[in-house]
Amino acid sequence: MALTIGVDVGGTKIAAGVVDHEGRILDRTHRQTPAGNPEKVSLTIADAVSELAARHPVDAVGIGAAGFVDETRSVIRFAPNLAWREEPLREKIADLVGLPVFVENDANAMAWGEYRFGAGRGESHVVCVTLGTGLGGGIVLDGGLYRGRWGMGGELGHVQVQPGGRPCGCGNLGCWERYASGTALLAEARRNLEADPSSGSVLLRLAGSVDGIRGEHVTAAAREGDPAALAAFHTMAEWLAQGFADLAATLDPGCFIVGGGVSEAADLFIDKVRSEFADRLVGRGHRPLAEIRVAELGPAAGVVGAADLARQR
Ligand code: BGC
Ligand code: NA
Ligand code: ZN
Repeated sequence: MALTIGVDVGGTKIAAGVVDHEGRILDRTHRQTPAGNPEKVSLTIADAVSELAARHPVDAVGIGAAGFVDETRSVIRFAPNLAWREEPLREKIADLVGLPVFVENDANAMAWGEYRFGAGRGESHVVCVTLGTGLGGGIVLDGGLYRGRWGMGGELGHVQVQPGGRPCGCGNLGCWERYASGTALLAEARRNLEADPSSGSVLLRLAGSVDGIRGEHVTAAAREGDPAALAAFHTMAEWLAQGFADLAATLDPGCFIVGGGVSEAADLFIDKVRSEFADRLVGRGHRPLAEIRVAELGPAAGVVGAADLARQR
């Protein structure tokens, strides 16, 4: 059976793997993402792909990237949180590695991986969010990945949830990812601590200073019962639940999947998301409640999904 390579291009790390038709990763490699330089990023992706292609007979390459990818799956037109603008990634990588290449939105790739081989198995309508630097969205409808007319559907992180709200990397105000993401969680914990220093004493002890607070400190502090950190998780859970209720009103999926780095701390907020979702869903009591699940494939979902989408081209 044919093998393909999946690549997940993140802000800090480029992960690549050789994947078989059952979603198993047979071999993998990774690189640091070169900062702020699209040329170097392309070369680094190609380098990782070539390393794997030298060891395995592969048919195609799928690349998941955090941006708005055009309908031909070739060009990253725009990336709210990265330096890509009208970047012809497919052509560049294909020239460098000599294999067919498909570029996909990172969250679409992850959603596809979870739908095929992870928490979404057996469902035909799945909405996936990935919580990290931003909030990525991936929508599977009737068993197919929904890309929209120009490839840019499913950009759930940029739905405006707060008119005139927090500024977003995309240039707009009040986007969902400013309220529900790893970045948002961190910002919220800092705000809570600054508003009431006594509420965040554990957080402050773990991080050393307000500026030193990182995501892992917020999680660790919440586990120790720190009120500022716990409140940050609760606030994020409410924003997630409201977003899911709105998405259920639009798309009526069978399940939601929460992935990305923040989902490693899912035990701290997922029950709250579930109960708030049930309280907010329109028509509640008269319709089935979509399940809210935690992603199963972890950091590999993007690699597995991108590879599988390249196979299904
Ligand atoms: C971008 C998406 C991406 C998501 C997760 C968002 O800010 O607009 O394209 O999928 O972050 O990386
Ligand atoms: Na998407
Ligand atoms: Zn935005």
